Amino acid sequence: MEFITARLILREFKEGDFEALREMDSKPEMHTYERKLPGEIETREALDEYIKNQLEVPRTTFRFAMTLPPQDTAVGLIKLARQWELTREWEVGWTVHPQEWGKGYAGEAAWTVMDWGFRELNVHRIVAFCHVGNVASVRVMEKLGMHRDGRLRETRWLNGKWWDEYVYSILEKEWK
Ligand SMILES: CC(C)(COP(=O)(O)OP(=O)(O)OC[C@H]1O[C@@H](n2cnc3c(N)ncnc32)[C@H](O)[C@@H]1OP(=O)(O)O)[C@@H](O)C(=O)NCCC(=O)NCCS
Repeated sequence: MEFITARLILREFKEGDFEALREMDSKPEMHTYERKLPGEIETREALDEYIKNQLEVPRTTFRFAMTLPPQDTAVGLIKLARQWELTREWEVGWTVHPQEWGKGYAGEAAWTVMDWGFRELNVHRIVAFCHVGNVASVRVMEKLGMHRDGRLRETRWLNGKWWDEYVYSILEKEWK
């Protein structure tokens, strides 16, 4: 499966993406609000999981590499995954290589997969979560027209402290 956006190609992950994924995983600024720096084994396990997900029937987790044609190197990741079957709620998530920050790629990729989700996957509601300090991620959510549903108290344990996170959402009727 593949999407072509104005500037990106979003494609499924493959074995050959390990180096690019490792390059992103080794950047501390990628993980400031998420988790401690992943080691090589964690990157390997993550890539294996992304590839394994492609065999699901039906698919409930999609992770696409963001690439900048004509290059095929992954410079980011966009995820769309089902949270709750009954309520048709899915979660979107994003990561972009720091060298490419500030160019609107996260939003461009997210818009494309969210639009596809609402049109093709019978999605009712898409949610996104972020650490309250993650201003860049909050901006991406706001630029996508997502609504801040609330602040979840002390749901993240990071650097020896509890942190709150925001939850944002958008509904199918709002997307139209
Ligand atoms: C969050 C993230 C995906 C945003 O991707 P992006 O493609 O740079 O997004 P945008 O270009 O739309 O920028 C979003 C906001 O980030 C901020 N930003 C962009 N580049 C920045 C930089 N170099 N330094 C600081 N802030 C920056 C700006 O405030 C921008 O908002 P604006 O459009 O109102 O100016 C990216 O910062 C990232 O990968 N961060 C690390 C991983 C992460 O935290 N993922 C999200 C988990 S919830």
